[in-house]
Amino acid sequence: MIRLFASFPKLIPLLAVFIFSCSLPIAISDDTDTDRGALLCFKSQISDPNGALRSWSNTSLDFCNWQGVSCNNTQTQIRVMGLNISSKGLSGSIPPCIGNLSSIASLDLSNNAFLGKIPAELGHLGQISYLNLSINSLEGHIPDELSLCSKLKVLSLCNNSLQGEIPPSLTQCTHLQQVVLCNNKLQGRIPTKFGMLHELKTLDLSNNALTGDIPPLLGSSPSFVYVDLGGNQLTGGIPEFLANSSSLQVLSLKQNNLTGGIPLALFNSSTLTTIYLNRNNLVGSIPPVTAIAAPLQFLSLALNKLRGGIPASLGNLSSLVRLSLAVNNLVGSIPGSLSELRKLERLILTYNNLSGPVPQSIFNMSSLQYLEMANNSLISQLPPDIEHSFRCGARSSRPTSLEFTSIRQVCAYLQ
Ligand SMILES: *[C@@H]1O[C@H](CO)[C@@H](O)[C@H](O)[C@H]1NC(C)=O
Ligand SMILES: *[C@@H]1O[C@H](CO)[C@@H](O)[C@H](O)[C@H]1NC(C)=O
Ligand SMILES: *[C@@H]1O[C@H](CO)[C@@H](O)[C@H](O)[C@H]1NC(C)=O
Ligand SMILES: *[C@@H]1O[C@H](CO)[C@@H](O)[C@H](O)[C@H]1NC(C)=O
Ligand SMILES: *[C@@H]1O[C@H](CO)[C@@H](O)[C@H](O)[C@H]1NC(C)=O
Ligand SMILES: *[C@@H]1O[C@H](CO)[C@@H](O)[C@H](O)[C@H]1NC(C)=O
Ligand SMILES: *[C@@H]1O[C@H](CO)[C@@H](O)[C@H](O)[C@H]1NC(C)=O
Ligand SMILES: *[C@@H]1O[C@H](CO)[C@@H](O)[C@H](O)[C@H]1NC(C)=O
Ligand SMILES: *[C@@H]1O[C@H](CO)[C@@H](O)[C@H](O)[C@H]1NC(C)=O
Ligand SMILES: *[C@@H]1O[C@H](CO)[C@@H](O)[C@H](O)[C@H]1NC(C)=O
Ligand SMILES: *[C@@H]1O[C@H](CO)[C@@H](O)[C@H](O)[C@H]1NC(C)=O
Ligand SMILES: *[C@@H]1O[C@H](CO)[C@@H](O)[C@H](O)[C@H]1NC(C)=O
Repeated sequence: MIRLFASFPKLIPLLAVFIFSCSLPIAISDDTDTDRGALLCFKSQISDPNGALRSWSNTSLDFCNWQGVSCNNTQTQIRVMGLNISSKGLSGSIPPCIGNLSSIASLDLSNNAFLGKIPAELGHLGQISYLNLSINSLEGHIPDELSLCSKLKVLSLCNNSLQGEIPPSLTQCTHLQQVVLCNNKLQGRIPTKFGMLHELKTLDLSNNALTGDIPPLLGSSPSFVYVDLGGNQLTGGIPEFLANSSSLQVLSLKQNNLTGGIPLALFNSSTLTTIYLNRNNLVGSIPPVTAIAAPLQFLSLALNKLRGGIPASLGNLSSLVRLSLAVNNLVGSIPGSLSELRKLERLILTYNNLSGPVPQSIFNMSSLQYLEMANNSLISQLPPDIEHSFRCGARSSRPTSLEFTSIRQVCAYLQ
């Protein structure tokens, strides 16, 4: 008893220090107050028809419990680290006061109805590494100021109505890993220095109005995995670095104005699973496949100006699921080796100038579900038991034997 009483007075100052230090963050840190103010300012300037941000209230001090807010709670301060209000039906312009959340590392405003311009104040977010504004109705240019976000790794602005050029200054964000700007109205050239971003894995600039060449150094870094530049107006050839990349898995350059030949290295890749080069102006012949056990599953070279024959070595692409060579100027016969493609589901060879007999083994492929060969100069007979080999579609009136020269719409029977 006596010992307890004796030590009690010593406890009081300790307790006071404890209480003081606990209240320090909320009472004293200016940054904590700024974050809270910035969140309330953000809410007050947008429209929230579903009341998704109901918990963001002036009467509640602990903003770390507010919907979508995550914090870094240290001994000296509480700061907003992440804000995720994706898919909450929010609309209005993105308020500039978002730029006051100076500690934020991750901001996800995707899949709402935000409109107007991307505020330049986002450039104040020096700690941000993830920014996703995809699936909104944002307009105007991508602000140059984003280049001040030196820690940015993921930038996703896909599915908006952004215009103007991709700011070349963005390449100052040297840690960028994913740049996803698809489905906008962006114009001008792809900044050359995208080829020098050594951590870049994903570059999706598809479905814009970009012009000029593909930067020659694109693909030169060993981090490159996914490139989609399809649906633009790009010209020039396929850069050698891109074709030679030892890490690239998906390459889509479809629907552009690319010229020149298909680089040999593309068919010597041990990493590519998808190659879409359809709808360009590519010339020359289809290169032979030199890769050993290539993982290629999807290959489309349709709608180009390719000449020469179909290389027998295509039969070495043992993972191939879909192959389209339609609408080119290919000649010669269909190599029987194609029937060695054990996983092939779709084979489309329409509108070429292929001739000779169709190898009967093609009709024997157990995986094949869809075959188009019309508009060539092929001669062949459909095997009598073709129904067992193919899913022939809804058409019930189906020939048992026909010459391919006379079936200009053979696909009509076989789809
Ligand atoms: C929130 O509270 C502060 C005082 O704590 C006050 O100055 C401010 O006007 C309030 N804001 C709103 C939107 O009610
Ligand atoms: C939280 O903040 C402290 C102090 O600023 C910092 O050292 C720490 O890295 C932060 N934590 C996270 C997860 O960012
Ligand atoms: C944001 O939340 C959604 C679910 O509401 C989740 O799917 C998404 O991955 C989150 N974004 C981030 C950056 O964590
Ligand atoms: C918050 O941001 C607004 C707009 O950018 C600015 O005017 C204001 O000074 C900022 N407030 C604080 C406390 O930093
Ligand atoms: C961005 O958000 C959209 C929609 O929520 C999502 O589909 C996409 O995966 C996100 N992008 C990245 C890079 O996280
Ligand atoms: C963009 O929109 C398309 C079409 O609605 C959708 O398929 C795609 O997942 C969206 N991508 C992103 C990153 O928002
Ligand atoms: C690409 O590979 C080919 C042959 O493998 C080589 O001759 C060429 O120098 C390489 N090009 C580049 C840019 O690495
Ligand atoms: C792309 O090619 C098409 C047809 O070859 C042509 O009409 C169009 O003008 C070209 N566009 C550009 C930007 O070169
Ligand atoms: C194919 O790539 C391998 C390395 O993966 C290389 O050794 C070989 O020379 C290449 N062949 C051709 C024809 O480029
Ligand atoms: C590729 O296919 C050709 C012709 O079918 C064959 O002669 C060659 O040995 C094959 N090469 C490899 C690497 O499998
Ligand atoms: C198709 O090839 C034959 C020779 O096999 C040639 O006589 C004919 O002109 C070619 N047709 C077209 C449209 O290129
Ligand atoms: C089709 O397959 C069967 C059994 O697998 C085989 O007996 C027959 O020779 C094959 N026909 C052709 C044309 O490859």
